[in-house]
Amino acid sequence: MDFALTAEHELIREMAYKFGMQEILPGIQERDREARSDRQILEKMGQAGILGVSIPAKYGGSGTDYISLGLVCEELERADTSARVVMSVHSGLHSLTLLQWGTEEQKMRWLPKLATGEKVGAFALTEPNAGSDAVNLRTTARKDGDSYILNGEKTWISLADYADQFLVIAKLAGDHPKPVFVAFIVDRNLPGFSSRPLKGKLGVRAGNTGQIFFEELRVPADCLLGEEGDGFKIAMSALDHGRYTVASGAVGIITACLDACDSYCKDRKVQGEEIGRKQLVQQMISNMVAGRDIGRLLYYQVGWMKNVGLRHTREVSMAKWQNCANAFKAANDAVEIHGAYGYSDEFPVERYFRNSRGAMIYEGTHEIHTIVQAEYELGYRCDKPLSKTLPPVEP
Ligand code: CAA
Repeated sequence: MDFALTAEHELIREMAYKFGMQEILPGIQERDREARSDRQILEKMGQAGILGVSIPAKYGGSGTDYISLGLVCEELERADTSARVVMSVHSGLHSLTLLQWGTEEQKMRWLPKLATGEKVGAFALTEPNAGSDAVNLRTTARKDGDSYILNGEKTWISLADYADQFLVIAKLAGDHPKPVFVAFIVDRNLPGFSSRPLKGKLGVRAGNTGQIFFEELRVPADCLLGEEGDGFKIAMSALDHGRYTVASGAVGIITACLDACDSYCKDRKVQGEEIGRKQLVQQMISNMVAGRDIGRLLYYQVGWMKNVGLRHTREVSMAKWQNCANAFKAANDAVEIHGAYGYSDEFPVERYFRNSRGAMIYEGTHEIHTIVQAEYELGYRCDKPLSKTLPPVEP
């Protein structure tokens, strides 16, 4: 077992760290206050090659392994959650799922433009009445000659206003003994598509989230991903990739909390000594360190499983569940350490507190992952080998 990151990993981590500090952090306080997302950051991510991380070179990506994607997410979220969300949605939920399930023709058609950021991809599963209970979704796809006609609406869709194409999960219309799920790549320029931003979010205010609508939207049959009936598996395997990016990003929030607390603990003096000398403060710092280091081990393991082509639904659920809970706890403690200053956006920790809360809801709530872990342990749930996996990475 080799826990060491390679020289290439270190270079990628450094590149993502610098990108975060130079391109994301400046102006984040204003963008967060004004709930304004900056489309240019997305374009710069494409230019920097960030959107092609973990996509094989033959499809226009960097050809780096899946641990690299985790490292990028960690460093981007250290700067701001909104940037990591782009990776979760564009790279994890959309591009990697296309890599896993697409035909060779579909991969050649879409991945090169996604890898450079020429096109932006997003994921559309959740509906007003289907969040955790994803099987309850109501968007329908009606077969009509060489096309399918989509009707329905999706909500809480990250990049709803920016994405060029969406991985949409629907149900085949008509009477079937059990629901037939289908997955499509849907171009936003098709007639019948519309979107609307969601306002008033608690966190990730510098990110774009919205609703999308399909009204008699005709999507060509060659945009069907997998076969009819594969749609739910495609959605769940997309979440295997998305949850990996959320889990690794959560470690970045903990690191950001430690960065902020490190300087505050040494600047702020109480009773003549730095507050970092106080044992109750030290306890909170130690918990953050444990969350960061355990969190890395959890997501490195998932990255390794992706590299060798193993199914990792259980392990990624564990990493996402624990890392997001630890990130929220770290942010809460970071606010505590900053006292009244932590309650103001003069310091970044209140943003970390709001941003980290969302990750305990999206891509599987804290409760869903809690239940799933118990079900695995008790034998009520087990993972069968998959018919389609990501291409393993050459060692
Ligand atoms: N990969 C491939 N196949 C999978 C799979 C995976 N990861 N997980 C499950 N499957 C397969 C199963 O093998 C099973 O196949 P068979 O019928 O052949 O046996 C089938 O899919 C059904 O799986 P389950 O029995 O596990 O399904 P379930 O109904 O028990 O799942 C659940 C329950 C785990 C709670 C699931 O519904 C779930 O994860 N819900 C949460 C959904 C979620 O995270 N939504 C957030 C989306 S984020 C978003 O939309 C916003 C955004 O922009 C980011």
